[in-house]
Amino acid sequence: MPTLPHPLHATPATGPLVSILESWTLHEYRAVSSTNLIAATLPAWTAVRADTQSAGRGRFQRSWISDQGGLWLSAVVPSSPGKLARRALPLAAGLAICNALQELGVQGFRLRWPNDVLVNDQKLAGLLIDQFAPGLAVVGIGINVGNQPDVQDASLKNCSIRLADLLPTPPKLSVLTDLILRRLRTVLLELNQQSAPALFLRVNQLWGPPRTVELDLDGTLRRGLFTGVDSEGRLRLADLCGNLSFYDAHQVRHLTEI
Ligand code: BTN
Repeated sequence: MPTLPHPLHATPATGPLVSILESWTLHEYRAVSSTNLIAATLPAWTAVRADTQSAGRGRFQRSWISDQGGLWLSAVVPSSPGKLARRALPLAAGLAICNALQELGVQGFRLRWPNDVLVNDQKLAGLLIDQFAPGLAVVGIGINVGNQPDVQDASLKNCSIRLADLLPTPPKLSVLTDLILRRLRTVLLELNQQSAPALFLRVNQLWGPPRTVELDLDGTLRRGLFTGVDSEGRLRLADLCGNLSFYDAHQVRHLTEI
């Protein structure tokens, strides 16, 4: 389990602008360290958005460039105990982002396990789920909209893409925030009513065709064909002989498509 920065270190000097969006309470800031850290002490169905993050966090302690014009949003949601629920939440969050993108008319996107959203192998959105308190999870959502991540990091030039590159007019951040939070709530309520395996079936349609991947299992590399998630929400890898192996998200440090 990685050590998380203490949430109090993230609190900005001035208070947020607070508004109610249907069933969500939204806190908006100009600048924070990381919206996930601000959200760490808030109750369920509260969301935090900031124009910029000085220490945006990605999966596995990577940093996330969060310049002006992108959507940097964290949503606090109830989290149920158990392995199945823990596996379902990141996949449900990815599904919610895809549903919102579809509604905006974005074409050609797909999921890369567990929940990166790609267009032409370029990253449009990433998610980071944190658990700071029992019974609550923070779903951190980063979407490149009109920002220019490659200005801060030139290596992102060919591997990131923005809504501004995909739509004639990208949505305003306020519209996108509203849409994402609605879709997230809907998917989570559906997950409560249906079963996690039903969600896994839906998510399996969003990966695109099976791909050869290399998994970095914290130092050990394993190649195979990624064929979606199994009925328990674990990554399913087929070797050359068709033998299947299964992995939990925390076991896979990195997945490279080959
Ligand atoms: C990844 O792809 O590695 C996950 C990126 C998640 C970035 C978002 S931006 C809003 C929230 N706050 C953070 O510090 N990180 C997430």
